[in-house]
Amino acid sequence: MKVLVVGSGGREHAIVWKLSKSPKVDKIYCAPGNGGIGTLAELVPIGAMEFDKLVDFAKKEGIDLTVIGMDDPLVGGIVDRFEAEGLRVFGPRANAAVIEGSKAFSKELMKKYNIPTAAYETFNDYDKALEYVKKGEFPVVLKADGLALGKGVLICNTLEEAEEGLKTLMIDKKFGESGNTVVIEEFLTGQEMSVLSFCDGKTVVPMVSAQDHKRAYDGDKGLNTGGMGTFSPSRVYTPKLAEECMKSIYQPTVDALNKEGRTFKGVIFFGLMLTPKGMRVIEYNARFGDPETQVVLPRLKNDIVEIFEACIDGTLDKINVEWYDNGTACVVLASGGYPESYKKGYEITGLEQAEKAENIIVFHAGTALKEGKFVTNGGRVLGVTGIGKDLDDAIDIAYKGVELVDFKDKHFRKDIGIK
Ligand code: AMP
Ligand code: GLY
Repeated sequence: MKVLVVGSGGREHAIVWKLSKSPKVDKIYCAPGNGGIGTLAELVPIGAMEFDKLVDFAKKEGIDLTVIGMDDPLVGGIVDRFEAEGLRVFGPRANAAVIEGSKAFSKELMKKYNIPTAAYETFNDYDKALEYVKKGEFPVVLKADGLALGKGVLICNTLEEAEEGLKTLMIDKKFGESGNTVVIEEFLTGQEMSVLSFCDGKTVVPMVSAQDHKRAYDGDKGLNTGGMGTFSPSRVYTPKLAEECMKSIYQPTVDALNKEGRTFKGVIFFGLMLTPKGMRVIEYNARFGDPETQVVLPRLKNDIVEIFEACIDGTLDKINVEWYDNGTACVVLASGGYPESYKKGYEITGLEQAEKAENIIVFHAGTALKEGKFVTNGGRVLGVTGIGKDLDDAIDIAYKGVELVDFKDKHFRKDIGIK
């Protein structure tokens, strides 16, 4: 079969890599992809939001299955569009992807169905929002309602910071229209973890857990980034917690969406925090995580095409999803300066040695192929995943891989997965 993957980051490279292992797959296309993805898939120069062009391409090429990696097209209704054209596509429709597209919606859903999450209020009016924070406790968390590249969340320690934050979101509109509505939330403390799950509309199958490091520098210092590294499993997510989450969070979320007429097929990403009072949902995403996918999919035993098809067909309960009992760690190599300004176009060396090394996979996030050589082409450039017999072994292997690859101004965290 012919498969098209929509997106261009490390996550999409991991999806393409896993698809390439499927005996069912003859050819993979990726739109728009990146330099590294081009070694496994034919790159199609169409942007993820160019729905008309993507539909035309899928029809013309006779694509049997399209997999949407990114959030923007999902929230924008790409799945509805493909379905209307009779094309098979993996991902939620817009009315279900709204769990990521609107924080106000997802908080309301959780409140209505008693799914544990931080206490909150929603505001459309700056003065009312300010009045509310004046009466509340600190720190307080401000969240722009819509997609803001993961950056629309502000943790404010004082009233001055909160006032400034509300101004940034609601008046200066730093994150555009997504700041018209703001969720003001209770600040929670505890370990965070990510549990991605396959979902066919009724059955939900959680994947192995992962943990993300969002800050730019060691010791969780510096600015928030798209993610500087991940590891799997999380050190705190026990089988007992998994069982509890299934009962109080995963299945209730899927059932709630169904009751609201928003059947979810695709991947629900549960962003969780283990607080002293128990597990809480920090956020939902409507897609695979980046860079969580780079540590989760290498642990999946099954042919992923079978799982994608079962999600579309509503037959996930017939599939025995199996995982390797090992550990994985992914260290992101970023361009110096990221997440602020950085330069692109530096030659990357050592990729061949790293790819030949045992138990190392190099996923490309922001690379381009220029005159036969890979060059840096984004903030996050590569994700070096180590596969080990357990988590600590995986971390050692990943860091050995990191040493093999180089480019000018290479920046990475040295504490990925470290306790
Ligand atoms: P989100 O985009 O909702 O995942 O938020 C981004 C990050 O902000 C999360 O991964 C947390 O580290 C932090 N965060 C979000 N909500 C809260 C909260 N209620 N309490 C503490 N930290 C939070
Ligand atoms: N790693 C967090 C995300 O994909 O949103």
